[in-house]
Amino acid sequence: MPGSDPDMTAEASLPATLELECRDVHVRLTGAAGQVDILRGVDLQIGRGEFVSILGASGTGKTTLLRVLGGLTPVSGGDYHLGGRPVSGPPEGAVTVFQDYANSLLPWRTVAHNVALGIESRLPAAEVRERVDGALEMVGLGESAGEYPSRLSGGMQQRVQIARALAMRPSVLLMDEPFGALDAMTKAGLQDQLQAVQAATGTTIVFVTHDVEEAVYLSDRIVVLSGRPACVGLTLDVPLARPRDQIGTKEDAGYLDLRHRTYAALGHGVPR
Ligand SMILES: Nc1ncnc2c1ncn2[C@@H]1O[C@H](COP(=O)(O)OP(=O)(O)OP(=O)(O)O)[C@@H](O)[C@H]1O
Ligand SMILES: [Mg+2]
Repeated sequence: MPGSDPDMTAEASLPATLELECRDVHVRLTGAAGQVDILRGVDLQIGRGEFVSILGASGTGKTTLLRVLGGLTPVSGGDYHLGGRPVSGPPEGAVTVFQDYANSLLPWRTVAHNVALGIESRLPAAEVRERVDGALEMVGLGESAGEYPSRLSGGMQQRVQIARALAMRPSVLLMDEPFGALDAMTKAGLQDQLQAVQAATGTTIVFVTHDVEEAVYLSDRIVVLSGRPACVGLTLDVPLARPRDQIGTKEDAGYLDLRHRTYAALGHGVPR
């Protein structure tokens, strides 16, 4: 809804059907200087089908939080539930996409065989083929199934990684700065593809980014991590109409207001 009421954005609403829930989550890691508290008192509730972005200064703990959500880092205190169940270890149905796509594709495997990696050992061959084809279509790489990763651009390689995650039909997709290394045009294209994929699949997406515009453009909600140890400093609802588009949405008064608030929450002054 263009021109959405800015007052709507000050407080975030609670999701209808809870998918992920962190209650008073505490993470303590052991570094060279001993034990360090990275996260403390993180409360976060994410509903099924929501798109939530996580922002925060470098080193705040965004990747750490995403690793908790993906069951890769255990909580040191508090609890984390996915789909109502306590999580200990990588949960069924949650898949993480990392930024480093170049190192996550196997160079000796074709695109299709890379996409099949997460499902080939547990599904019949015909279903693997069907899922791989479907996932490649979703990210616009249907024509590149037989190519090898080295012959693809960076943006295409990242789409292969996303297709691999989609082929696993996750209920939750966890993405750590997935478009961080891409040029602005490629990034905008992938944002729109991800938006379309989410509309088609209803996947819950938690998306870590440093890009404020990207967070506002894609999200239903923005969560800003702050402090040391970090907790949720601010949550903003993003009640902008969907589907969003790169020109119209970014000229919307509601979009500009949210962009302003998000920059301010990150400690940057933005002149009005
Ligand atoms: N395995 C570890 N052991 C000890 N400390 C760690 C470990 N991993 C990360 N840290 C520390 O935890 C803090 C948060 O790291 P994290 O990678 O979560 O930050 P981030 O918000 O993702 O940063 P960036 O935006 O730069 O990716 C940092 O101070 C980092 O040094
Ligand atoms: Mg990180």
